[in-house]
Amino acid sequence: MRLVVLASGGGSNFQALIDDPVVRPHLQALICNRPDAGCLERAEEARLPHAVIDHTAYESREAFDQALALMLAEFDVDGIILAGFMRILSPGFMSKFDGKIINIHPSLLPKYKGLNTHERALAAGDKEAGVTVHFVTSELDGGPRVGQRTVPVLEHDTPQRLAHRVLQQEHRLYPAVVRAWIDQRLELIDGVPYLDGEALNEPARFDLHE
Ligand code: GRF
Repeated sequence: MRLVVLASGGGSNFQALIDDPVVRPHLQALICNRPDAGCLERAEEARLPHAVIDHTAYESREAFDQALALMLAEFDVDGIILAGFMRILSPGFMSKFDGKIINIHPSLLPKYKGLNTHERALAAGDKEAGVTVHFVTSELDGGPRVGQRTVPVLEHDTPQRLAHRVLQQEHRLYPAVVRAWIDQRLELIDGVPYLDGEALNEPARFDLHE
């Protein structure tokens, strides 16, 4: 499977994918929209092709997305992995890669779509927080959920401490989901995710083989 990772930031999830021996050979490249993002150094160190498409150089979201789609076509991608990619993708882009994009989001979706998920979980007094991996549709953070891991919210938690604990689970969940995708144990059929031939009504935990 030919996979390309899109990221905008430090890239710790990208690193978790690089460090997975099953996933690594399938990674074709990293594409980043910020010239100074830490994920670029990680790609460099892993000797993985990497490119920057700076969104500020494009006059519209559509123009940026078109340039991005062209670059992805060059890599002949089968799958696109969003790993902290801080751009909303336009419907035109989505229609080109329908069912081929997955994302990781630091909340127990459908709770807390969008930003500041940990602050919102703490403000709501939630007892649990966590992370979700989902297929991407044109609804922001609203596509079919595939995998989820939870962490307890602790007394006197701060958004930073909670984020750190959730991130540790992100680094376990994302490679596990991508491995299943590569092995065709995970599939999206008519908008419904299947794992090992069973429709996923609820996200799976992906912790069977740890
Ligand atoms: C992660 O919390 C991920 O869930 C969210 O953005 C953050 C990226 O972190 N989509 P990193 O760049 O992978 O360290």
